[in-house]
Amino acid sequence: MDPTIERWNETYRDPAPFPEPNPHLAQFRSFLPSGGTALDLACGRGADALYLADCGFQVTAWDGSEVALTLLKEEANRRALSITTLCAPITVDAFKDHRFDLIYVHRFLDRALFPVILEALKPQGRLFYETFTTESLETTTAPQGPKNPSYRLEANELVRLCAPLHIRLFIDGLMPSRDAKTFIPTSKSLLIGEKRSR
Ligand SMILES: C[S@@+](CC[C@H](N)C(=O)[O-])C[C@H]1O[C@@H](n2cnc3c(N)ncnc32)[C@H](O)[C@@H]1O
Repeated sequence: MDPTIERWNETYRDPAPFPEPNPHLAQFRSFLPSGGTALDLACGRGADALYLADCGFQVTAWDGSEVALTLLKEEANRRALSITTLCAPITVDAFKDHRFDLIYVHRFLDRALFPVILEALKPQGRLFYETFTTESLETTTAPQGPKNPSYRLEANELVRLCAPLHIRLFIDGLMPSRDAKTFIPTSKSLLIGEKRSR
């Protein structure tokens, strides 16, 4: 087995309370499609996949960790939510002919995947991508996320990686507070982009 996935399996075997969904999903809900098919890529335990299923999306939750996906299936059953899980390495070839109205990625970065992620969006489909920045390694005393800068985004890099999309929202290093009255430092970049029809 891939040593990265084995490490993730070990992490998920550690008993821990089921996580809360990413609050930015609710905060920026109006930027997402109203429904349809959604992919939570590198979903982990899938708190965000469950949030999307609860919003009415038909969700595919994809991760290489069978331990994480077992926890997700148990939680989905407990909440009576329907989720399709896919336990497989995330590779360029594995996307095949899958197409989604929404692709959601949180705290995962593989730059080689961007062309196939964009291809896998249906016309008018949306990409919600949020992950850690290198800037926050320098500006934060105890930064969250991977220590290796190559797994973190450079300034404006998400914009470059998603250039074929119509960018609806891009936030880097600061997030609006929930009441939108102020901005709060964050260690991540967030982009929501829309695929224009051909
Ligand atoms: C930091 S976790 C993020 C989980 C979730 N998106 C979240 O924000 O809570 C990264 C996830 O990516 C998965 N992962 C990393 N590399 C992978 C690969 N090559 N193929 C499949 N899954 C992978 C790990 O199993 C892990 O669950």
